[in-house]
Amino acid sequence: MNKRITIAIDGPAGAGKSTIGKIIAQKINADYIDTGAMYRALTLKLIENNIDLNDTYSLLKELNNTSIDFRNGHIYLDKKIVDKQIRENIVSQNVSDVAKIKEVREELVKIQQNIASQKSVVMDGRDIGTVVLPNADFKFFVIASIHERAKRRFEDLVKAGEKNLTIEEVEDQISRRDKIDSTREKSPLTKSDDAYEIDTTNKSINESVDEILKIIEGR
Ligand code: DC
Repeated sequence: MNKRITIAIDGPAGAGKSTIGKIIAQKINADYIDTGAMYRALTLKLIENNIDLNDTYSLLKELNNTSIDFRNGHIYLDKKIVDKQIRENIVSQNVSDVAKIKEVREELVKIQQNIASQKSVVMDGRDIGTVVLPNADFKFFVIASIHERAKRRFEDLVKAGEKNLTIEEVEDQISRRDKIDSTREKSPLTKSDDAYEIDTTNKSINESVDEILKIIEGR
């Protein structure tokens, strides 16, 4: 494909957006951009610097002194790669509370729109089709049952060395995040009217990727 193309992939945590998004990006020669990683990077910095997440003044001051970028598949926080640190459970548990702050969203959306204006992208998040790229060439809303999503996240955490969590606790954490992400005032997680819904619950990764590629190539 020669024309610059923008693809928005939204949906709740653990639905398979990033796995699918990375493969689609490779297939169509686009950059994969994980916007959740940007919210996670800021959350990591706030935790490391002992900023009270309810203290919006200090939090925004910190935001003004922070650089966040997603390049070549890596997340950069103040010019350092933090791919691993942002996946720690302490970050997962706090990121929704950071992502609901209006000023944080405005700042990160600006960075995301700037990235997408320069190249073909597959951008994964919660508000990509609705806010970041309302004119995306294709929009997908990826879902899966809460049990399936908890199972996938649990397996990822175990692989990463987590030993203290049960699958039930992971399901509770995901439900809590879903609730905050879907009910926040500023750009909540919602399916854009013109997005294709892809349910990955009983599908392999390849089946979900094929479903999306068929839609992209079929137009
Ligand atoms: O996709 P993820 O689980 O890494 O996302 C981390 C958090 O960031 C999640 O609570 C939702 C939020 N997020 C968001 O509000 N908007 C985005 N575009 C991406 C993520």
